[in-house]
Order: sequence, then structure tokens, then C-alpha cells
Amino acid sequence: MGTITGNDITLKISDVTICYDDLGVGTTPVIFIHGFPFDKSSWKPQMDFLQQHHRVIAYDIRGFGKSTSGTDEADINLFADDLLAFMDLLEIQKAIVCGLSMGGYIVLNAVSRYAERFSAMILCDTQCIADTPEVKEKRKQSIDKINDGGLTEYTDGLITALFHKNTVTHKKEVVDEIRNVILSTRPEVITSALTALARRWETCSALPAMETPALILCGSDDKITTPEQAQYMMTCLPNAELHIINNAAHLSNLENANDFNKHLDKFLAGINK
Ligand code: MLT
Repeated sequence: MGTITGNDITLKISDVTICYDDLGVGTTPVIFIHGFPFDKSSWKPQMDFLQQHHRVIAYDIRGFGKSTSGTDEADINLFADDLLAFMDLLEIQKAIVCGLSMGGYIVLNAVSRYAERFSAMILCDTQCIADTPEVKEKRKQSIDKINDGGLTEYTDGLITALFHKNTVTHKKEVVDEIRNVILSTRPEVITSALTALARRWETCSALPAMETPALILCGSDDKITTPEQAQYMMTCLPNAELHIINNAAHLSNLENANDFNKHLDKFLAGINK
């Protein structure tokens, strides 16, 4: 398949249509993987900023945004397999991969199994641990709520957890955009992904053997995947640097895009592609 560039391009992986944006020019593309339950539009500040000097790709994980779900059960391992299949179809031998939260779980899964396919990884507001029993129980309660027609109530609770108070006050458009993305996601996609998140396994034990250069970024006020978890990953990874993004909670790339992009740009400049 030749390289087609632009927005909302589609390709097929088994019974799933994956929708992606592919912009800019460069030998080693940067592939962005969004968190839960968002879509590729959540990488707009990074896509806009980096496309001047890099080839940048953002895709919708199966079921999310404009990608279809297929019939397989949602699973982080399957999402990581999709990433590899996506790279194969685009004839990308090596990529730099950047994932936020659930996107980071996918990155850690993929890099732990296929290190040779990645020149570097960027782990944003994510962690290597599996869910604790308490978190699993909370996910179950969320699934029940959504199944009872409570997607709006679930979204309101999630929004409160996602953002720094300064974002809520001063960047209302960012909050509204994310709310709209969540509310336009099919409830069954959200509940299946919640089950997939609860079932994921830990990747902390794989970190000491992961030599891939890593940039770890985390919002100073992230209560979902905390700075402590980011610090823990840094100490386990042999080749990692960590930066805390101030004035940000869980969506540090949107809440403080300037600082986030500055660290990203500097890290990418030092990567041997
Ligand atoms: C995400 O943003 O992807 C989620 O918060 C991940 C999670 O709930 O573990």
C-alpha cells in the first residue's frame, strides 16, 4: 500500500475499519494513540505542532472515533496487535510511538513484545500496573451505570476526574470538546473497553529489559495515573527521562500543550531515527 497523506484515511485490519490522519514528512513517523474514551482528535495540538518537521500519524482505536469495532472482544493485547498490523499495512518498519493513558498501556504492551519495531516511546499520563481490586470494582459499577442509561452521569464524573481546575476555569473549550467526544462514543464501546482495562495485565516487570528510549510526561495533578506512577516507571526503565507538566491533570497534552510540545520536540530531536 503506497503512502496516502491527509485526514480521515481508512484501512482494514481483519473485520475492522481503522480511521487515521497521516500528515507531514519524515523517515520515522510518530504514531499517536489516544486514551480512554477519546479519539484521535485529542492529539490535535501535537499533530499541528509536529507536522512541520515530522511525519505524524494519529488513529482511532477500534470502536472509538471513526473506527469500527469488529467482532473480537476488546482487549489491550488486541489493540497492540492492531498497532503492529497498522504499521505493517502502512509499510512502517520502525516508528516512534506516543500513547496517553490507555494509549500508554497499548504502547507498553507493544514495545514489550516487539521492541525492534520502535525507535522510541513516549508514555503520557499512564502507568505499568494492573488494576487493583478497588479499581476493578469501580469499573464494574461504571459499566452497570452506563448499561442503565447513565452515560451522561458517567461522563460528568469522568470529566471532573480528568481535568485540572485551571483547565475547567480557563480552557472550557478543551473540556467541552472532550465531553462531546465521550458522549458521541457508543455506550457498548465504552463498557467493553472498561472490561478490557480491568483485564489488562501489568507491564512493570517488563520495564527493566525495555531499552527503547523513553520520554515520560505526566500532569502535576493527575489523580488517575499519578506522578508517583510515572516516577516508578522512570526508575524501572533503563533509558527514560521524566517531566512533570504543570497546570495539568490527566490530559496533560491538551491542558498544557505548550510545555508538553516543548518536551516532545526536544526528545524527538535527540532520537536516533
Ligand atoms: C485513560 O485515560 O485512558 C484511562 O483513564 C485509563 C484508565 O482508566 O486506566
